[in-house]
Amino acid sequence: MGSALVTGATSGIGLEFAWELAAERNDLVLVARNEKRLATVAENIRQVANVQVEVLPADLATESGARAVAERVSAEERPIGLLINNAGFGLGQEFIGGSLERELEALDAMVRAVLITSHAATQTMVGRGYGAILNVASIASWSLNGTYSAHKAWVRTFTEGLAASLKGTGVSATALCPGLVRTEFHERAHIDADAWFRFAFSSPRTVARIGLDACRKGQPIVTPTLLYKAAELGLRLAPRPVVTLVAGPNVTKLAGAPQ
Ligand SMILES: NC(=O)c1ccc[n+]([C@@H]2O[C@H](COP(=O)([O-])OP(=O)(O)OC[C@H]3O[C@@H](n4cnc5c(N)ncnc54)[C@H](OP(=O)(O)O)[C@@H]3O)[C@@H](O)[C@H]2O)c1
Repeated sequence: MGSALVTGATSGIGLEFAWELAAERNDLVLVARNEKRLATVAENIRQVANVQVEVLPADLATESGARAVAERVSAEERPIGLLINNAGFGLGQEFIGGSLERELEALDAMVRAVLITSHAATQTMVGRGYGAILNVASIASWSLNGTYSAHKAWVRTFTEGLAASLKGTGVSATALCPGLVRTEFHERAHIDADAWFRFAFSSPRTVARIGLDACRKGQPIVTPTLLYKAAELGLRLAPRPVVTLVAGPNVTKLAGAPQ
């Protein structure tokens, strides 16, 4: 398959992608901002799984960071057979009254960088006749939780459309739409994860495994766990005023909502 490149590989779902892929004897390229943490994760994986692990420190909210990852995706040497666009974060602010800089950072990291790296991957992989792209969206792509929902809706729509365009090329695209997952996400976004029932959380390993499985099958979209499959169905079928009421911005403000 070639190597797998995972963004946001030092924590949560991305870290589990890295371990799962290494356990299946895939070489890896790991991307995140914190260089020290990247080096530690890479060394642990090398020692335990005995695979080659490159690190690529990059801030995907910057043009240079996204381009550096795209360049690695396009490289002929040690070709990338699987691109996982996983890096992402909750904004930790409301749109009204929030910082525009933070909004642009989120848009650049979760939309622009996904576009740039997916573009590089499709050009290169279609030329080779094989490869896969796995983009991490969210159940929030069906809700109305501010610009985070909008970014994840973009990832989901873009990836499903890309999957259809790629038919017959030997390359696949999959959108992964998890519900709540127990990671550093909520703490980083200043969200109180204890506001939800414990059973509402999936483990990052479960989510990563389901995502990789769907990717192997070439599924255009997958929502892990029965709970969130049901939530997705409800959000898709409910009239918009109902969605606004049960999964709109006010719900986030009062009690927190799935990001
Ligand atoms: N946790 C949930 O409940 C949940 C639910 C649905 C979807 N998701 C999505 O799942 C994905 C993974 O989130 P997670 O829950 O695993 O979060 P996490 O534990 O906070 O991990 C985030 C990872 O992304 C990296 N990252 C953040 N900003 C970055 C940037 N600008 N450039 C490069 N790397 C960056 C972080 O490393 P550095 O800080 O070192 O860069 C870290 O490795 C995200 O796209 C998130 O939106 C999460």
